[in-house]
Amino acid sequence: MHLYGTATINTTGNLEIGGIDTVKLVEKYGTPLYVYDTSLIRERARAFKQTFDNLGIKAQVAYASKAFSTVAMLQLIKEEGLSLDVVSGGELYTAIKAEFPAEKIHFHGNNKSEAELIMALDHHVGCIVVDNFYELEILSDLSVERKQVVNILIRVTPGIEAHTHDYILTGQEDSKFGFDLQNGQAESALLKALESEYINVLGLHCHIGSQIFETTGFILAANKILEKMAEWHAAFEFTPQVLNLGGGFGIRYTAEDEPLAPENYVQEMINEVQKETARLKLPMPEIWIEPGRSLVGDAGTTLYTLGSSKNVPNVRKYLAVDGGMTDNLRPALYDAKYEAILANRANEQPSELVSIAGKCCESGDMLIWDLQLPEADKNDILAVFCTGAYGYSMANNYNRIPRPPVIFVEEGEDKLVVKRETYEDLVRLDLPITKSVSAR
Ligand SMILES: Cc1ncc(COP(=O)(O)O)c(C=O)c1O
Repeated sequence: MHLYGTATINTTGNLEIGGIDTVKLVEKYGTPLYVYDTSLIRERARAFKQTFDNLGIKAQVAYASKAFSTVAMLQLIKEEGLSLDVVSGGELYTAIKAEFPAEKIHFHGNNKSEAELIMALDHHVGCIVVDNFYELEILSDLSVERKQVVNILIRVTPGIEAHTHDYILTGQEDSKFGFDLQNGQAESALLKALESEYINVLGLHCHIGSQIFETTGFILAANKILEKMAEWHAAFEFTPQVLNLGGGFGIRYTAEDEPLAPENYVQEMINEVQKETARLKLPMPEIWIEPGRSLVGDAGTTLYTLGSSKNVPNVRKYLAVDGGMTDNLRPALYDAKYEAILANRANEQPSELVSIAGKCCESGDMLIWDLQLPEADKNDILAVFCTGAYGYSMANNYNRIPRPPVIFVEEGEDKLVVKRETYEDLVRLDLPITKSVSAR
């Protein structure tokens, strides 16, 4: 059994996180319940940041808030001194509600609306990561109209796709994001941006994939971009201040996953950029990164109560939990794999193979296929590990199931940071077409 962060098994045989017995948490808050081990988030944030600081490299570590965005989470990121990525007006609004310093917010997205761009300009966000010509034109017009200087990064696709252990050199990339580096689109975008009176091009951005366990992809991407930067430096006297190499640092979901430590990813990136900038006679740019999953993924655990079960003789035993694809869409969406234990019987040896079903009316609503557990019964508590990234943030109300609450645990204290949705919340925006009988 692999336990993450502060998780331990206590003397009563229950799973404990942040110094708190998870069975007590379930008694207090019910299930399903998202539990975040905030000291693990802080540890990860510091590891990324300190690696740059120790090497004296100018950098920004921006938390990709799409992984898990709530006011409390962004306040924690603010406390840790990180920057922040947002990809929509809603994520920006959450950041503003969290009083996140606007100058440390980077605004992403492949189809930002004019209203969202105006919102970003009104709040003077630190930088806008421009994704396409449509956006560049709107932004250029808005900046002139408002006589407001706008810092941008140009998002490029360097022709490298990385995922876990694979990276693919794609030449021209078939991606909905960014300007292609090879076919001249990125250069046209740069020239257009440089012509625009109020646009200040800070540098370039790329994001090559997710759940990456090796540094090769990042290094190849950095090399391609730096070569282009050197070309543009010579041709247009453009000196990039920033190279943003995105997120995508992998985490351990199951025993098959062997991620590197944050400092390893960062150190190799820095070494390469230093070496290449020296070779290309470019000034060393600031290095920005955007970790999402690697900051919050393994800090999150979801607690469920087991309910019904179904045995298909000689085939499989299904155990159903009181949540599913509504609180964790990733298994249904990406066939994502997770590990889990019985939180209230964490010391017992596994004795049977089961599969964990969600409660939605959808055969694909399976959280875990083939999990070894002690013989489990209704009302046992299942703890699914590593649900901290893209769990709550992708949660939905399919089958009109209310979304679970979120709590933070640290040093023996638990704090409710998102309330459980109620049935009343579910119909809050509904408008009737007939008057209720009681109102007539
Ligand atoms: C542009 C960008 N940056 C950062 C991230 C964060 O990725 P991860 O959560 O894998 O670190 C993503 C994820 O989709 C992204 O699209």
